Amino acid sequence: MFETLASPKLDGIIALMQAYAEDPRSDKVDLGVGVYRDAKGRTPVMRAVKAAERKILETQDSKSYLSLAGDRAFLDAMTGLLLGEAVAHDRVASVGTPGGTAAVRQICELIRRARPEAVVWVSAQTWPNHMPLIAAAGLEARRYRYLDAASGALDRGGFFADLEQVRQGDVVLVHGCCHNPTGVDPTLQDWAEIAAILDRLGAVPFVDMAYQGFGAGLEADAAGLRLLASRLPEVLVAASCSKNFGLYRERVGLAMAIVPEDRRATLAGTLVGLNRQSFAFPPDHGGRVVSTILGDAALRDLWEGELEEMRQRVAENRRALADALRVETRSDRFGFVAGQQGMFSLLPLSADAVEKLRMDAGIYMLGDGRVNMAGLDAAGISATAQGVAKLLSEGQTL
Ligand code: LMR
Repeated sequence: MFETLASPKLDGIIALMQAYAEDPRSDKVDLGVGVYRDAKGRTPVMRAVKAAERKILETQDSKSYLSLAGDRAFLDAMTGLLLGEAVAHDRVASVGTPGGTAAVRQICELIRRARPEAVVWVSAQTWPNHMPLIAAAGLEARRYRYLDAASGALDRGGFFADLEQVRQGDVVLVHGCCHNPTGVDPTLQDWAEIAAILDRLGAVPFVDMAYQGFGAGLEADAAGLRLLASRLPEVLVAASCSKNFGLYRERVGLAMAIVPEDRRATLAGTLVGLNRQSFAFPPDHGGRVVSTILGDAALRDLWEGELEEMRQRVAENRRALADALRVETRSDRFGFVAGQQGMFSLLPLSADAVEKLRMDAGIYMLGDGRVNMAGLDAAGISATAQGVAKLLSEGQTL
C-alpha cells in the first residue's frame, strides 16, 4: 500500500538540525533552530522550572487523565500572562496543545470547521512551518508584504496595502512579537492600524505568540495582542511556552479563541472536540510546571528574572554581531541587526552565500539567511562576521 509514497521533504529547520548534528567539525556554529543558549553554549533547565518540578514531584498524587482541554490552572495562568486585563476572561475559550505547533494546527482546523473558504493571510517571510500547517488543514494561504529588505524595517506601505485585499471572514496570521524570521515587529501605532483595518473589513486576526518576554519584555511583548483583543470581536491565538520557559521538549502550548461571551461555550466545545480527534488529552507535565511557576510569587519572580537575563543576552548578542560585522565588513549594511527584536534576524545573503558559509566555515543558518541570535557566543560572533566579510571580499553576491 505504500508504493505511492515519496519521502517527504523536511522543512529547512529540521534538515539543518540534522546536517549540523552530522558535521564533525569542532568549531562549527549553529545559528539554525530557535533555541536559547547561554555563554557556554548550553540550553539549561531554568532554575524556576527545576524548583517547580521538585514541588510537583513531591505533591502530585495521581497521573490519571485530566480534561481534554488540559489543566485549568495552566490555561487560566496563561490567559493572564497573554491577555492581562485587556478582555474579560469569560470571552476566552482555550485548550492545551502539545507545543505551539499543535496550537497553530488546531486553530487552522477550527478555521476550516467554521469557514472552509477562509483565506489565511501570512507575512511574506514567516516561520517555515506556517504554510505546511495551513495546507495540512486544507486551507488556502496567501502572502502579505512585511519586510523592507533594504532598511531591515517594516514595509508599512506594502503591509497595509496588502491587508486591504483581505475579504470579510478571512484570517490574518500575525506574529505577536519577535517576528520569526525577520525580528521586525509592528509598533503600537501599527497594531492600532492593523486592528482598524481588520475591524473595517470583518477579518479575524490569528496571533502566533511564541516568544513573549524575548523582545521588549513580558508586558510590552503582549501589547499588540492585547490591543487586538480589546478592539476586535474575534481573535485567535496560538501560544507556546517552549522558549520563555525553556520547555522545548515538553511540548507546552495552547490554542485560544477570544469571542463574544455568548459564543464562548461553543468555541470551547469545538476546541475540545478537535483535541479529542488528534491527540485527546494534551501533555500535562510542562503545563503544570508553568502553572506552578505563575501561581507562586517567589517562583514567578525567579522565572521573570531568568527570562529577563535571556532577553538581555539576546539583545547583547545582536549588538555584538552588528559591531563585529561593522568592523569586519567596514560597512554599516548589517547595522539593522542591533535594533531588531527576539531570536531571529534575516541576513541579506543569497542561498549560495549561505551554502558557502556552511561548507567553508561550518556556519549553519537557514537558506534564507535567518540566524538565531540566541544561539551565538563570542566565537560564533567572530566566525560569522569574518565568514560574511570573506564572502564580500571574494566578490560573492550577497
Ligand atoms: C524555530 O523557528 O526555529 C523554532 O520555532 C523551532 C521550530 O519548531 O521550528
